[in-house]
Amino acid sequence: MRTQVAIIGAGPAGLLLGRLLSLQGIDTVILERRSADYVLGRIRAGVLDRASLVALREAECDQRMKAEGLFHDGFDIVAGERRFHIDLKGLTGEQVIVYGQTEVTHDLMEARRAEGTPTFYEAEALDVSGIEDGPVEIVYEHGGARHTLSCDYVAGCDGFYGVASKAIPADLRRTFERVYPFGWLGLFADVEPCSHELIYANHTNGFALASMRSHTRSRYYIQCPIDIDLADWPDERVWDELAIRLGPQAAANMKRAPAIEKSVAPLRSFVAEPMRHGRLFLAGDAAHIVPPTGAKGLNLASADVLALARALTAQIREGTSTLIDTYSANRLAEIWKVERFSWWMTMLLHRFSDREDFNARIQMAELDYLAGSRAAQLALAENYVGLPLAG
Ligand code: APR
Ligand code: PHB
Repeated sequence: MRTQVAIIGAGPAGLLLGRLLSLQGIDTVILERRSADYVLGRIRAGVLDRASLVALREAECDQRMKAEGLFHDGFDIVAGERRFHIDLKGLTGEQVIVYGQTEVTHDLMEARRAEGTPTFYEAEALDVSGIEDGPVEIVYEHGGARHTLSCDYVAGCDGFYGVASKAIPADLRRTFERVYPFGWLGLFADVEPCSHELIYANHTNGFALASMRSHTRSRYYIQCPIDIDLADWPDERVWDELAIRLGPQAAANMKRAPAIEKSVAPLRSFVAEPMRHGRLFLAGDAAHIVPPTGAKGLNLASADVLALARALTAQIREGTSTLIDTYSANRLAEIWKVERFSWWMTMLLHRFSDREDFNARIQMAELDYLAGSRAAQLALAENYVGLPLAG
């Protein structure tokens, strides 16, 4: 089999790239190691910023998001006794949209199915070769047999545990990582949210977040040790903890119901440089991970893919290499700003020690400053809605 751009991974990054390239008349094949149902069953974050809005619009896949997404003007921060509002719209003129990543994935899958463009599910890429001097080939396993996909370019959209990045020689690759000493216990329930916007809380018991997917489905998180046994966390214990951490106003409005999903996720910051080697390009979680505190994972993947689709289109259709040559450096400059923001939100809102130490006092001072300073709120808001996209 042969194609112009082989895409490894049918997460949001791979599907979005495939769609943007199809709209430019460029052939793609997607290889995805899991089944389509498995990909759609994964529960991920749910806040879209500017990059995802632009990407879905360019992909002509934004109709359902515009109709069913919840447009939010801001969010609240709870810090101890105090609750204050970050007025995203008033500060930046922009909103964010609450629309689950699962829905985004579903819409992109549907668009690809309607196009009739090939996606091989349960097809695991095993090896990528020839990215420096060709011919470029991907060996993959599908239906119990090995196959080869030949292509002009490879897009590694295969997430943190993917294979694409391994094709970059180890001596040219640098990674930067921070693993945080806790996780998030997430809970889904079919109940009305406790507030019409999100609430981020810093409490002495640890971080908490009240989020949602719709007017009838709530998504909650609490900071927890990474190695907890979920058997020790029956639903009532999680609800009790949420009520304490989110504060009395949220607690009074919080409807409880049995969890329809409950799981613990680790928090990590990670960047791999460079994002391009020869004919291989990385995008999304394959190149970087952010802790979910700033809601940036999907949005960063969208921004990568917008840039990569433009760069590959210019190269393939016009033979202009400027954009593919600058893809890695330009994206990394933006990615590090988002890494910084996600790290900062994480440091601001989580409990790092059981002691009332220096760091805890600095955190309180910073929250106090944020509560009272328009300048500090603007800095938070412009990052949360998404910094301006290059180009
Ligand atoms: N062969 C084929 N597919 C693979 C391989 C492989 N060897 N390795 C991984 N994959 C697939 C995974 O099964 C997964 O479906 O690549 C896909 C990567 O998708 P995501 O993990 O969703 O990553 P990405 O598309 O970059 O999306 C970024 O998703 O993880 C969140 O926080 C992240 O919100 C962000 C967004
Ligand atoms: C979510 O709704 O899952 C969510 C929202 C905001 C975040 C992280 C996760 O910062």
